[in-house]
Amino acid sequence: MSALELVNIRKRYGNVETLKGIDLSLASGEFLVLLGSSGCGKSTLLNIIAGLAEATEGDVRIGDRSVTGVHPKNRDIAMVFQSYALYPNMSVARNIGFGLEMRHVPAAERTQAVEKTAKMLQIENLLARKPSELSGGQRQRVAIGRALVRDPQIFLFDEPLSNLDAKLRMETRTELKRLHQMLGTTIVYVTHDQIEAMTLATRIAVMRDGQIEQLATPDEIYNRPATRYVASFVGSPPMNMLDATVGDGTAHIAGSLSGVPLPSPLQDSAGRVREIIVGIRPESLALAAAGDSGLTIEAKVEVVELTGPELVVTSMIGGQRLTASLPPRSQVAVGSTQHFSFDATALHIFDKATGKRI
Ligand SMILES: Nc1ncnc2c1ncn2[C@@H]1O[C@H](COP(=O)(O)OP(=O)(O)OP(=O)(O)O)[C@@H](O)[C@H]1O
Ligand SMILES: [Mg+2]
Repeated sequence: MSALELVNIRKRYGNVETLKGIDLSLASGEFLVLLGSSGCGKSTLLNIIAGLAEATEGDVRIGDRSVTGVHPKNRDIAMVFQSYALYPNMSVARNIGFGLEMRHVPAAERTQAVEKTAKMLQIENLLARKPSELSGGQRQRVAIGRALVRDPQIFLFDEPLSNLDAKLRMETRTELKRLHQMLGTTIVYVTHDQIEAMTLATRIAVMRDGQIEQLATPDEIYNRPATRYVASFVGSPPMNMLDATVGDGTAHIAGSLSGVPLPSPLQDSAGRVREIIVGIRPESLALAAAGDSGLTIEAKVEVVELTGPELVVTSMIGGQRLTASLPPRSQVAVGSTQHFSFDATALHIFDKATGKRI
């Protein structure tokens, strides 16, 4: 049985198609992250799952039951919004339990559920306070508690951490991950933050312009991105994308390197030379040692930035930019010419015309 199934979901606003046919099936206990840039349709899709928006076409199934046309409150879902409006004049305890109160759950049972949830979120000593007496992160946990207390089939989160500062964001993220591991709940989580997606998801759906570009585990998304778009979206600094051509079964990177071995002969059926993009992650590059006989690229260093854990070196080869993430104490001078070594297995090859992985 799948916990959630989306069948050919389409959404049109006037003539504009915002969702262009979304299909996916989620097993119970999965943590699916919808990842994509602003405006790609993430919230629209989440709202359609919740029943807050109606699809123009397609079907939503929760626990093998079609819920198309079913009111949000009868869908057995709980949602946490980006702007988690708590009731300001109610205590934390009542905020968390309010949904149960509305469902006429008896007071004793409600208190027990609220206490259990508060304990899980480590806010049990805050239950008597009002929202105005809490920090941003504590308020966020109350909002999550309001959803958790309900024990629904699916939790829906829309950018729940986006208005927290960096440190709180990370703490709350870890907390969410712990909760998911502990409770084994099914979660659909919207974000445009690739780190959140990579760390939380059991599977990531990378969305682009109303479609799913790739649906896979974080490991696959990172190590075998299906398209150039996915490859550039996930990873920081982003993957280097070098223009190259294919000849004699090897690649020639414009302005730099010939004879780069390729996974397969890349001639099209007409035998013409093909234009490709060679992708290399910054962390796959290293400073070449003297006399290094492996693959190296020569580049002129333009900018050197120390982020703390790494030294980010931006160089130019031909007219193309190359970024390398190096150990923080690497000796690299601005203006110098450096040789960067890499392994042929670290390359990602994309068709320049279609953007698809080859
Ligand atoms: N009610 C509406 N009428 C017309 N267009 C809409 C409506 N709601 C959303 N859209 C459009 O649909 C597209 C997707 O919006 P959506 O809110 O799903 O994006 P998103 O991926 O959640 O973006 P963000 O990361 O900025 O929240 C956008 O181009 C938006 O302008
Ligand atoms: Mg949104």
